[in-house]
Amino acid sequence: MNRFEGRVAFVTGGAGGIGKAVVQRLVDEGAQVAVTDIVGEAAREVAAAHGDRAVGFALDIGDEAAVKAAVDGTMAAFGRLDVLVNNAALTDMATMMGDTDAVTIPNAVWERTLHVNATGYLYCCRHAIPHIAAAGGGAIINVASGSGMLGDSARIAYGTSKAAVIAMTRYMATQHGAQKIRCNAIAPGPIVTPHSRKVAGKEFDIIARHMPMGELGEPADIAALVAFLGSSESRYINGQTCRAAWLKRCRRRARRAGMRRARSGCRPTLRRWTPRGCSACCATVIPILRSPRWRWWRSSPATPPRCGSRCPGRTLRCCPCDCA
Ligand SMILES: NC(=O)c1ccc[n+]([C@@H]2O[C@H](COP(=O)([O-])OP(=O)(O)OC[C@H]3O[C@@H](n4cnc5c(N)ncnc54)[C@H](O)[C@@H]3O)[C@@H](O)[C@H]2O)c1
Repeated sequence: MNRFEGRVAFVTGGAGGIGKAVVQRLVDEGAQVAVTDIVGEAAREVAAAHGDRAVGFALDIGDEAAVKAAVDGTMAAFGRLDVLVNNAALTDMATMMGDTDAVTIPNAVWERTLHVNATGYLYCCRHAIPHIAAAGGGAIINVASGSGMLGDSARIAYGTSKAAVIAMTRYMATQHGAQKIRCNAIAPGPIVTPHSRKVAGKEFDIIARHMPMGELGEPADIAALVAFLGSSESRYINGQTCRAAWLKRCRRRARRAGMRRARSGCRPTLRRWTPRGCSACCATVIPILRSPRWRWWRSSPATPPRCGSRCPGRTLRCCPCDCA
């Protein structure tokens, strides 16, 4: 398919796992692409692999002047702009480990996460929209996350920033629809990238076993959705958030198993341990609880841990509901 022939796309975080696959897909479909990333050298490397169809820029999306310069650079290189893919986000280990809950998160982590993951998306839209409108319309695709639609026992700043992106998507769609600019978001579930694989380790394999199809998503799956939402094939889809991969089977199984145990009376404290509304985080965490690393709960159940308790040896905070 050549859905992007003659069109120009601007991709942030283009040197990362999903970003690189998005660039590849758009180039394969005929687009010329501005590859941007905070790691400028990596962005230029990705662009170089696509010859004259791509150009790389160093860009911190949290720096508005740099965003304007990168958009201007894209216009100078290709002369137009049709598609913006807001994909960059803070995924580094230091930020993730500091991103805990409302009580303990350092202000610096909260502010930087919201600034990059939400305000950075706004900056890119602000500087891209006039050019997209001048080209007669186009599409904005915001990569959000399932975390923006659920609660979790850790990563309050990341989840809040992604929820902001989802809300921003609806507003952009409403406010710029008249200029023929569609804006949609994608909320991926767990996607295996070199970085996420390194962070999650074996826990990914455990989570994969609980996915409805028994496997996790690949960056190419998200890239295919980006290409669809960026093309005119999705011309009547605007302001939507498309979920890509979900943990439904796990959640239902966990709930069913919890109810069975509660009914049989073997876990009389289950309801007390399992505050209402935490089934979402259980979906992610229950498979992890089953791994050997988490056996300490089973071996020292004298005082049931509260939801959100800190696990020894890990800064990750986690729901200890033993309802699976
Ligand atoms: N991988 C997953 O499981 C998953 C799940 C849900 C959502 N997502 C979302 O998908 C997007 C891509 O994630 P990924 O898995 O490819 O992560 P990744 O870490 O592989 O890529 C993120 C890229 O963003 C870049 N970046 C970081 N801060 C930046 C900044 N301030 N300015 C510009 N670039 C910056 C990084 O250098 C990196 O290349 C992110 O928005 C992430 O939140 C990923």
